[in-house]
Amino acid sequence: MDYLQIQGVQSLKGTIKISGAKNASLPLIAMTILAKNRVTIKNLPHVVDINTLLKLLSNLGAECHFQEDAIEVDTTTLSQTKATYDIVKTMRASILVLGPILARFGHCEVSLPGGCAIGQRPINLHLKALEQMGAKIDIRSGYIEATAPNGLHGCEIIFDKITVTGTANIVMAAALAKGTTTIINAAREPEVVQLCEILNKSGVCIEGIGTAVLHITGTDGELLAIEEFSVIPDRIEAGTYLCAGAITNSELTLTDVNAAHLGSVIAKLEEMGCSFSITEDSITIHPASELQPVSIITQEYPAFPTDMQAQFLALATQANGVSIIEERLFENRFMHVSELQRMGADISLNGNVATVKGKTKLGGTDVMATDLRASSALVLAALVADGETDIHRIYHLDRGYDALEKKLEGVGANIIRLKE
Ligand code: EPU
Repeated sequence: MDYLQIQGVQSLKGTIKISGAKNASLPLIAMTILAKNRVTIKNLPHVVDINTLLKLLSNLGAECHFQEDAIEVDTTTLSQTKATYDIVKTMRASILVLGPILARFGHCEVSLPGGCAIGQRPINLHLKALEQMGAKIDIRSGYIEATAPNGLHGCEIIFDKITVTGTANIVMAAALAKGTTTIINAAREPEVVQLCEILNKSGVCIEGIGTAVLHITGTDGELLAIEEFSVIPDRIEAGTYLCAGAITNSELTLTDVNAAHLGSVIAKLEEMGCSFSITEDSITIHPASELQPVSIITQEYPAFPTDMQAQFLALATQANGVSIIEERLFENRFMHVSELQRMGADISLNGNVATVKGKTKLGGTDVMATDLRASSALVLAALVADGETDIHRIYHLDRGYDALEKKLEGVGANIIRLKE
């Protein structure tokens, strides 16, 4: 198993190129199931979750050809409709194939994803919506068995909670359904917006893109002609490197990034004393003379993202004063707290609220990554810790960060990947 070794107390300088967004790529790859042609997707990040989904599609009979950071996916050869446990257990986002396979073939089996490190993460809203669209859903021996012998039909769906992959799944199912599906309380994340925009260009009429109410008029079973496209920049990767600039008191420039997707993150960094120079596709962070404490509540886009909570928790350890961070999306997303405490952070947890007292001197030690974003929080803490930090179980990090150690090394960090 690989681990990262980081020597702390460094100043960084230079430019980091941001990769394509993992959480945009996953639904967009699943979307190729709806295509009647080979689809070329550019600017895919090199991360394990993408390989996992491509493996799932290959197991179903699709052909996937890599060319640098692009991929050509041919799902016209798809012959299987069962997503098996061995893959789904490694990546919950595998559930994204349910909507498109069901819409195209009228039946689909997907292993139930089970629990995960950040919370229970049920998929009841995906299933309820598909039932409203005419699917029959049975849960048998750990599998979701979905059938729609008469096809899926449009209807009005009201999500009790805003769900990102739930919205993506239902939008993809609705794309081939008969009639118009209205989703009320839809997710507005940029990753969902891109999925809707590509479908819209491919013959599915979608109104309300980027709002909480989507109207999707399906093609009644006709497969889509999907043209080549490029995945949007990864706003969470970008936010993580902005935190790297802020925590190390360094000026860093990010390129191939969209600042419009980072409004709430930039606003919180400004509250902490950082400033920014922004162009159409770059962001430069100018660090604070002294980091100020911050109050954060994680919520759905465009509010502050849960996927940046762990990184800001690490950053708050270096702010002068008391920061309050409330996690509203995932009940268990504080596993990084005990690891940060081992590095010397002064954090107290009360339910879903973390109180961070800063500024504390952090010390390098052995720590363990517990989930994807928790891993990056440990990297940030290690950059300012005294001495050496070894971060174990970085397979979590590899699921979603493209070449993190190379990107950080490129701006001067003392970081290497080693084998246990
Ligand atoms: N929820 C339900 N029932 C459902 C679906 C969701 O109760 O059927 C609840 C969840 O338990 C959670 C809330 O609704 O409390 C929001 O969950 P959501 O469905 O939006 O999360 P997700 O789609 O499973 C995506 C990202 C996550 C990100 C969340 C929130 C992908 C592949 N994953 O997950 O990304 O944290 O949205 O923004 O897009 C990550 O990249 O590290 C990551 C975990």
